[in-house]
Amino acid sequence: MSLLKKKIISEVKNDLADIEEAVKNNLNPYFDLVSDIASHILFAGGKRLRPLLMILSAKICGNTKKDSAAISSIFEYLHTASLLHDDLIDDASMRRGKPVAHSIWGNAAAVLTGDFLLARSLSIATKTGIPEVIEAIAEITEYMSQGEIFQLMNKQRLDLSEKEYMEIIKCKTAVLFRGACRTGALVAGASRDKKDALSLYGMNLGIAFQMADDLLDYTADSKLLGKKTGADIREGKLTLPVIYALNQADSKDRRFIETIIKNKDFNLSDFTNLQELLKKYKSLSYTKKIANDYVEKAKTSLDIFKPVKARETLLDIADYAMVRKT
Ligand code: IPE
Ligand code: IPE
Ligand code: MG
Ligand code: MG
Ligand code: MG
Repeated sequence: MSLLKKKIISEVKNDLADIEEAVKNNLNPYFDLVSDIASHILFAGGKRLRPLLMILSAKICGNTKKDSAAISSIFEYLHTASLLHDDLIDDASMRRGKPVAHSIWGNAAAVLTGDFLLARSLSIATKTGIPEVIEAIAEITEYMSQGEIFQLMNKQRLDLSEKEYMEIIKCKTAVLFRGACRTGALVAGASRDKKDALSLYGMNLGIAFQMADDLLDYTADSKLLGKKTGADIREGKLTLPVIYALNQADSKDRRFIETIIKNKDFNLSDFTNLQELLKKYKSLSYTKKIANDYVEKAKTSLDIFKPVKARETLLDIADYAMVRKT
């Protein structure tokens, strides 16, 4: 484990324990089967990043109430719902080191369990009694689903622009990060400038986090990552490394990349060649640089806060987004 990850974990050990408790206790399903399916993915070793961001955002605004853990479970449920749906959409086989839920229980059951988790999130949100929290949760699901739809509709489109890619990742990933951080500020009763600062932190961190995920899809060790690498290109999904490479490549290399995008059944050596081209055209370092810029933007928005412990951890998490291996 990296030093930074160790440091973060030591800083948030108690919060992570509270989150685990809350995620377990708030599921509250009526049927055991729903619990079985949800638990298969819920308790398979996710990082719990989104609930953690909510709790730390509440703390940086001065809130230390224990009940923020219960509210934070909203964000793990939302995330898990999106993963259940996403794995079906992406035809994935592995998640958090285990076979995806739909490969065990079938597509319909996985979709419906995702729906249940979305509804659970809203139920818990109503318990806060803060309309803005409910609004935030609804907004997240509106954007997440539309981001996924937009990505789906643009599969295999060779001229997908960087601008369109940014739209996709903001909607499908960053809005959830933003909502988690904003909710932390809301439950803490923070001032408007603090709410806005944390929203901005979440949004920019979410953008960087998805770019890092898109890099890991080309660079990670699949075992460590807990999901299969090369999944994006297999599904014809153009992410920033490939968009940039297509724009930089000479016509021969461009033709090769286009063939891989169009052919789901490429072999390992094709994939290795693609990885080499991404290096040749500096697409990986380009993506890293852009992502790092968003990390810096995220960190800057925390300038308005006093140097409390939660601020240090939020800054560490921003740096961790770029060095993570899982
Ligand atoms: C994966 O999120 C989905 C993305 C938005 C990239 P995480 O990398 O946070 O997944 P877990 O929760 O740790 O499994
Ligand atoms: C993020 O995109 C998915 C969600 C927002 C649900 P990916 O499709 O790249 O996520 P992974 O790689 O499957 O976790
Ligand atoms: Mg996926
Ligand atoms: Mg996806
Ligand atoms: Mg991915």
